[in-house]
Amino acid sequence: MHKKSLNILFAASEVAGYAKTGGLADVAAALPKALKKIGHNVIVVMPRYYTIDPSKLEKLPASLGVPMGPMGEFWAGVYKTTLPKSEVEIYFIDFEHYFGRHGLYESDDGSSYHDNDNRFIFFSKAVLQLSKMLHFAPDIIHANDWHTASIPLLMKTRFVHDFAHTASVLTIHNMQHQGNFFKGAIDVLEVGWNHFNAHECESYDILNMLKCGIYHAEAVSTVSYKYAQEIQTPEFSFGLDGHLRGHGHKIFGVLNGVDYEEWNPSIDPYLNHNYDVDAMSGKAQNKREIQEHFGLEVRDDVALIGFVGRFAEQKGIGLIASAIHGILDQHVQIVMLGTGEKWAEGYFSDVAHHRPNFALHVGYSEALAHKIEAGSDMFLMPSLFEPCGLNQIYSLRYGTLPIVRGTGGLDDTIVNFDEHHQNGNGFKFYDATSEALYYTVLWALRIYYNDKEAFHAMQRRAMGEHFSWQDSAEAYENIYRFALEQRNQ
Ligand code: ADP
Ligand code: GLC
Repeated sequence: MHKKSLNILFAASEVAGYAKTGGLADVAAALPKALKKIGHNVIVVMPRYYTIDPSKLEKLPASLGVPMGPMGEFWAGVYKTTLPKSEVEIYFIDFEHYFGRHGLYESDDGSSYHDNDNRFIFFSKAVLQLSKMLHFAPDIIHANDWHTASIPLLMKTRFVHDFAHTASVLTIHNMQHQGNFFKGAIDVLEVGWNHFNAHECESYDILNMLKCGIYHAEAVSTVSYKYAQEIQTPEFSFGLDGHLRGHGHKIFGVLNGVDYEEWNPSIDPYLNHNYDVDAMSGKAQNKREIQEHFGLEVRDDVALIGFVGRFAEQKGIGLIASAIHGILDQHVQIVMLGTGEKWAEGYFSDVAHHRPNFALHVGYSEALAHKIEAGSDMFLMPSLFEPCGLNQIYSLRYGTLPIVRGTGGLDDTIVNFDEHHQNGNGFKFYDATSEALYYTVLWALRIYYNDKEAFHAMQRRAMGEHFSWQDSAEAYENIYRFALEQRNQ
């Protein structure tokens, strides 16, 4: 039987190509395109941060009125364009007071904007108003993380007349960020104080946006199978495991895919030397370039380990910091690219100052991220928790074997090297200790130097793997149909 195609509105606070702080942006750029390819009508909505140049966008003639409770009605502009290499329309909500700032969520000194509650309540309501203005009639509104997690509640209260048959799906990309705010924001939401209770939106007298979204969405998903289980335990839930277990019947795990038009060493425009599994010489040249770029000794016979990621506790930077000197005592080079916690930026800069086989770039650089993926022999990702993780999957395609902690998406995507059966695509440990990390790196180095055949066979297996967005899009389609059944029963 031919299934009806769905109208899907995808709301996200960041979309790669326009604004990005992490993997959410990669997903928000790729998943809508994959959904379109399997036959659905999709539109994407995000804020127009003022780092996004409006001259490349089309301005819609009308304005959106957005009710903000006691603050009255605010009027937003709307821009639109299509996602690169696709026909998926993306709309930008324009309102200088909230989005005319340098950062997405925080100011340059790293402190969150004090009005993030109002900023994202405003955005969430604008999403619903836009849907009405466009007469889009969504079957599904797909919200992502706390920023848009009030949408499922708004659809059942303030906006119920327009969305009575629309179902909502909330994807959790990270449990650590829940959107906890002063409860007065309930008045700005205009949903009624009866929703401020311990089952729905309240946590210790605070408004918890993510909790609210989990309660009201018809389906909730996370970005790996393992993380979908982990968040229902105290270790990974940041306080919401009881709430999540209570909604366990509607929680699903869908692994992110990879946009192989962006992350593919055979066509990657950031690389001076493209390569592929059958022609690997370019990889060695990329390695030399990275060594040169970072001022490391240029030589082929030393293992180069790369790290790209936010300097956040989540990413295991504490483990790396504790283990780094012991690792650097080995015959190895390490390069790191990242920004974030100031202590880490300072600590690793200091290591770079003292150790000739370690180099660091503090900052955000798309080009360097690609070059490090290509030039490194191994990729370090010892996360304490990892909802999915994209860099280890990119690493596989680049033949850069991941050294990971077996948590969340890292555990789902990385198969540990098995010396007896010659199987696996990386090196994995489980204990969140610097010793476990240290000995796993030593193990990986031993294979790199002493069993080159096994190492190369593993690279070939890694490069042959395919994490397709089409598979993920099909899994989301099933979740959408489940959500619709829940909504309309
Ligand atoms: P998270 O979303 O938790 O940060 P992911 O692995 O899902 O982790 O995604 C991180 C994304 O951000 C990847 O595309 C990665 O290459 C990119 N990234 C992170 N830090 C940097 C950086 N300093 N420079 C360039 N890209 C970065
Ligand atoms: C979050 C997670 C990361 C995941 C990304 C995209 O930022 O930290 O693990 O890959 O979202 O889903």
